[in-house]
Amino acid sequence: MAKRLVGSLFGLLVLLAKVAVSALYSDNIAVKATPMGNAAWLYPENQQQIDDWKAQVTKYNLAAGAERAIRVLYVYSTDLEITYTKPVMGALTEAAAAAFRTIPNVTHVAAIIDSWLGASYANLNTLSTSKLQALADAHAQLYCASTLLSGVQLDLEPYSPTYKTSVLTFVKRLAQSFRDPAVCSRGPKFLSFFVGPRQADAALFNALGPNGFAVVSCYDLDSPGPGLPETPQQYKNNLKSNVQFLVSTAANSTYGKFSIGLPFSAAACEFETAISITDPSKVIAGYPMYSASQPSYIPAAFEVLNQTLGVNATRLDSRYLGVSMWGFLSRDVLVSGYRHLPKNVFDTPGMMTYLVSNMPKKAAMKP
Ligand SMILES: *[C@@H]1O[C@H](CO)[C@@H](O)[C@H](O)[C@H]1NC(C)=O
Ligand SMILES: *[C@@H]1O[C@H](CO)[C@@H](O)[C@H](O)[C@H]1NC(C)=O
Ligand SMILES: *[C@@H]1O[C@H](CO)[C@@H](O)[C@H](O)[C@H]1NC(C)=O
Ligand SMILES: *[C@@H]1O[C@H](CO)[C@@H](O)[C@H](O)[C@H]1NC(C)=O
Repeated sequence: MAKRLVGSLFGLLVLLAKVAVSALYSDNIAVKATPMGNAAWLYPENQQQIDDWKAQVTKYNLAAGAERAIRVLYVYSTDLEITYTKPVMGALTEAAAAAFRTIPNVTHVAAIIDSWLGASYANLNTLSTSKLQALADAHAQLYCASTLLSGVQLDLEPYSPTYKTSVLTFVKRLAQSFRDPAVCSRGPKFLSFFVGPRQADAALFNALGPNGFAVVSCYDLDSPGPGLPETPQQYKNNLKSNVQFLVSTAANSTYGKFSIGLPFSAAACEFETAISITDPSKVIAGYPMYSASQPSYIPAAFEVLNQTLGVNATRLDSRYLGVSMWGFLSRDVLVSGYRHLPKNVFDTPGMMTYLVSNMPKKAAMKP
């Protein structure tokens, strides 16, 4: 009897100790790790690109002002591998983060971790729950230790029924570790997850929790045939129904925060020009990302955002955080043997001037 009492007292103490160790930052604090404002994806492969893109974003931000600025930069770090018990960052990640942090009005820089889950080295389904959690913890430790990075963006594709259970286990644990003072002692970091507008679901938003958000690919929505461009009018119709769907899904979870990814440079279905790799004389003409004189994708997208999110685009408590700009790319977007152009947000003539006065604006943004 006494022995059992001592035993259960001991058990209680162990339980209390565990609870104390794993006490997370409160949701009110964690939610502040989420960046508000416009964002961009950057995939630099050398210092020259870091310098060039820093100069372009600086020029834009100084002209656009704090509310229309590109405030959040997602920088490619590495692909995920399931054997990474001691993961490392990409060689350029921290150098890029250090450079980009000095851009006026850039408030957050995050590391991108990509993977195609169908690849054997990245198939999370082959890991047990405890191994998935250990993999998440190893990544949390690496990125929490960085003073230059504010968080991580995961691009683990496809987010489909085949991989959902293991992806959600990984996402939930990583987001939670980013809220754990024992891991992130300098304060919580954010976790964002790249996903399609029809794939994002309440389970994903709930796994991301208060310090997480979805970065939603509102491009590559449809094409009139394999390899062919979507017209700006088709894009507009598709975008509208997709954003409406996303808003209703996000509203179904406690936090449900999202950034809207738009094609400021070429994607698979929205592009200005496609050039055959084997025969450069073979060209498919698409539509400009921006034009003042003919239908183009970004003005079409902004019109849809005005119609769907306009009222809430200026609310500080909104679930809509801003737009994410695809992209600053070093590699080509290759589709069915064709190279899609333009490769960079500011390659399109007139784009910067247009954005300086038309980029979605957050009326009240936290620093
Ligand atoms: C934005 O950047 C400008 C120029 O560096 C600076 O004066 C201003 O305080 C910044 N505003 C915010 C909200 O960060
Ligand atoms: C909202 O959640 C409920 C319950 O989980 C589900 O049945 C419904 O389909 C969801 N709606 C949307 C728009 O996701
Ligand atoms: C969006 O709405 C705002 C305010 O109503 C307006 O100033 C802006 O021109 C609109 N933009 C587009 C692309 O329709
Ligand atoms: C705008 O915000 C209000 C209040 O938070 C909410 O009820 C409404 O659904 C939101 N609309 C959109 C389009 O997000």
